[in-house]
Amino acid sequence: MNILYILFLVSFVSSKKVFIDNDGLSALQVLFPLKAGWEIVGISGSFGSSSAVDSMGAGYDVLKTYNLTSCIPHYLGAQQPLLRNQQTFDYWQDMFGELIWQGGFSHSYQDTYSWDNFTYNDSIPGALAMIEAVKANKDTDPVYIWAAGMMTTVAQAISLYPNLVNESAGLYIMGGYFDTQYAAASGTPIVNDINTDINLIQDPEAAQIVLTADWNELVIGANVTNYLVPSQELYDRLIDKAHGFTTIEDDPYFGELSALLATGNYTENTSEEKLPFWDEVVTAFMVWPDLIEDSSDFSVAVDTSFYSPFYGNLRIWGHDYAPKGVKTGNATIINKITDSRFYDLLVDTYFEDWRQYCSVKGPVELDY
Ligand SMILES: *[C@@H]1O[C@H](CO)[C@@H](O)[C@H](O)[C@H]1NC(C)=O
Ligand SMILES: *[C@@H]1O[C@H](CO)[C@@H](O)[C@H](O)[C@H]1NC(C)=O
Ligand SMILES: *[C@@H]1O[C@H](CO)[C@@H](O)[C@H](O)[C@H]1NC(C)=O
Ligand SMILES: *[C@@H]1O[C@H](CO)[C@@H](O)[C@H](O)[C@H]1NC(C)=O
Ligand SMILES: *[C@@H]1O[C@H](CO)[C@@H](O)[C@H](O)[C@H]1NC(C)=O
Ligand SMILES: *[C@@H]1O[C@H](CO)[C@@H](O)[C@H](O)[C@H]1NC(C)=O
Ligand SMILES: *[C@@H]1O[C@H](CO)[C@@H](O)[C@H](O)[C@H]1NC(C)=O
Ligand SMILES: *[C@@H]1O[C@H](CO)[C@@H](O)[C@H](O)[C@H]1NC(C)=O
Repeated sequence: MNILYILFLVSFVSSKKVFIDNDGLSALQVLFPLKAGWEIVGISGSFGSSSAVDSMGAGYDVLKTYNLTSCIPHYLGAQQPLLRNQQTFDYWQDMFGELIWQGGFSHSYQDTYSWDNFTYNDSIPGALAMIEAVKANKDTDPVYIWAAGMMTTVAQAISLYPNLVNESAGLYIMGGYFDTQYAAASGTPIVNDINTDINLIQDPEAAQIVLTADWNELVIGANVTNYLVPSQELYDRLIDKAHGFTTIEDDPYFGELSALLATGNYTENTSEEKLPFWDEVVTAFMVWPDLIEDSSDFSVAVDTSFYSPFYGNLRIWGHDYAPKGVKTGNATIINKITDSRFYDLLVDTYFEDWRQYCSVKGPVELDY
């Protein structure tokens, strides 16, 4: 037994665990927990901003690029919202205004992947895999659930197994903006887009079920995630670290980083490549809570009245003023993290080699 193996056993036994559901997947959402010594007990891909097949394809590409397919199981999560569908999504927009970002409900949406582009564990659905993971670890290392898209897969799991909420360590979500109406109304299309809460809007009923369940801990990313964004300064740092842009362009290992940088020129690109680091920010403060500089506790609920301009939006109240006629949950909303350390972690993580992770449980030095 060599030292590396002993270290591996020690870290494995005491490691925190997370199950991730998302409607897409970013590299850092996977690599940050691994860097912090967490174990990812499963990932599910669901309908939402992408079609189910594209969420699975994006997830597979991340796992494949970093050679993680053999130790991080990948499942298919919710393929549609609980109640909302294309027709009601369209009717609602006719009544209350069009959303800039309609994700998988956009009429111009076209799949990028097909099901034979990738493999995944199709023996059980994502919600069941989530339940199994929570049950298996409840007495030793309760699993954190990290829902980065719609809340549908988690709602399915709660319906099948209500103890999910008290046998897990807690729930982290991406979404739940507030005070964004002015920014959405007066901003450019991209500003409107990033101030609209699509993750909750696409399945308001699931969001209400999940956010008002009695979790041991419920942490919402919301506004703070919009404050950490790419910039030319960050691009330059990444390019410098690579000793030139061509290294990133040419090496398939940098495929995910290359998608972030596009041409390497921040002003040339206008939308996708400039989106805030939404899921990455929530992932970072989940695994490194000392990044958090400011947070607030609120009672929360999701508007589930179809005939409401706020259908699918998070509502927040001080505990003393929370409504009694509707179920509310207790949430911690993160307001501020240490930005500079977040960017440092981002740069470091991309330039470590994760392809040995399944054997050595950590990164090794990257040769580039
Ligand atoms: C999916 O597979 C098809 C057929 O092999 C291929 O043409 C296409 O580029 C693949 N798409 C992706 C996104 O990998
Ligand atoms: C797929 O997931 C099931 C349920 O968690 C597990 O029993 C099985 O071993 C997995 N299959 C593979 C090939 O990993
Ligand atoms: C979770 O809640 C259920 C129902 O109230 C209870 O029977 C069970 O013991 C609880 N489990 C834990 C780990 O608190
Ligand atoms: C939330 O975001 C909106 C829009 O960017 C901003 O106007 C508001 O001040 C933010 N609120 C908090 C508490 O961060
Ligand atoms: C980025 O592109 C713009 C417009 O094409 C150009 O004016 C600018 O100099 C470029 N910046 C860098 C850092 O290359
Ligand atoms: C970003 O730049 C790349 C390379 O020039 C281009 O293919 C892509 O369409 C651009 N994206 C946007 C959203 O402008
Ligand atoms: C929510 O927090 C308030 C204030 O701390 C507390 O009185 C209440 O019992 C909590 N509710 C739940 C469901 O934990
Ligand atoms: C990929 O992971 C497997 C299983 O842990 C390992 O045997 C293989 O060497 C890794 N490949 C690379 C390129 O690191």
